[in-house]
Amino acid sequence: MTIKTVMVIGAGQMGAGIAQVFAQAGLQVFLNDMNEVALDKGMKNIEKLLARAVEKGRMEEEEKNSTLSRLTSTNTINDAQHCDLIVEAVVENMNVKTKVFKQLDEIAPKHAILASNTSSLPITEIASATNRASQVIGMHFMNPVPVMKLVEIIRGLQTSDETYQAIENLTHRLGKTPVEVSDFPGFVSNRILMPMINEAIYTLYEGVASVEDIDTVMKLGMNHPMGPLQLADFIGLDTCLYIMEVLHEGFGDSKYRPCPLLRKYVKAGWLGKKSGRGFYQYD
Ligand code: CAA
Ligand code: NAD
Repeated sequence: MTIKTVMVIGAGQMGAGIAQVFAQAGLQVFLNDMNEVALDKGMKNIEKLLARAVEKGRMEEEEKNSTLSRLTSTNTINDAQHCDLIVEAVVENMNVKTKVFKQLDEIAPKHAILASNTSSLPITEIASATNRASQVIGMHFMNPVPVMKLVEIIRGLQTSDETYQAIENLTHRLGKTPVEVSDFPGFVSNRILMPMINEAIYTLYEGVASVEDIDTVMKLGMNHPMGPLQLADFIGLDTCLYIMEVLHEGFGDSKYRPCPLLRKYVKAGWLGKKSGRGFYQYD
């Protein structure tokens, strides 16, 4: 199966990046969000990043224009009827995601693959909201999508080999590296990354060191490009909390207990970089 036209649902930090890399790889792309402001922000962000690539000499003006010509913003999910693949990148919440997948199952053509960019939620459960479980798969991009080379591909219990192969081939077309992963809470990436971030938050909560010092230890001591608290702000503290909750519930092990300070910040609306305040202040 050759994938030519895709829809990305959710134009937040992940959805906009995913739409950009698809359009750059020559696919026709619909970018959808139920929030007009978010959709507009997502499209503007793509334009800004492409303009910067031209400025830096990494892209010709012509390529920028042709990439943009392949991108259509839409406020209706009904455009899924024109697509071979739909990638969902809405909030990390099972109820919201299954509602989207139920709708997509009715609208998308019979041959279309339905993929989720979920960070941690079970693909098998998302697939059970549809009548095409063999064509449902996890396609987990990393943030920032245009820069990061990895795509974790998650097979649900009933994902077919044909579906897996189509997504693996597409990942190569995007210039990224696929890794095949089984459907377990947090997959590989967030099973390892998120407990580290949660532990960094506990380290702050227990007064062991300051925000800056915790990040400096991990940047200079372990050569991480960002400290764990800066990375948590970058990912979004709401997303970090949802992922820890999935790990905690999924494994039933207290070692995954989300730090109370993380819960407090999310309750306060301190969601990190996207809300202007998290462990750091952004203005
Ligand atoms: N979107 C697109 N491009 C971006 C970007 C963004 N948000 N931020 C930086 N870039 C690009 C810049 O344009 C720049 O390229 P040019 O120099 O050609 O313009 C390049 O990346 C390097 O950027 P900077 O020099 O400004 O900064 P840097 O060297 O510190 O790199 C970084 C920025 C790539 C984000 C780096 O800090 C990094 O790798 N951080 C860790 C990222 C990470 O761990 N991501 C995984 C998060 S977990 C996840 O995604 C899974 C999940 O489910 C939660
Ligand atoms: P975000 O909050 O930046 O964006 C989510 C967008 O989805 C918002 O613009 C919202 O308006 C939109 N949305 C919500 N419900 C919708 C619906 N029913 N229909 C259409 N649009 C809807 O979130 P994000 O950080 O882009 O995360 C999106 C998904 O990607 C989550 O599942 C998250 O776990 C996953 N993910 C996030 C990261 C990260 O670093 N932030 C990395 C990899 C994967």
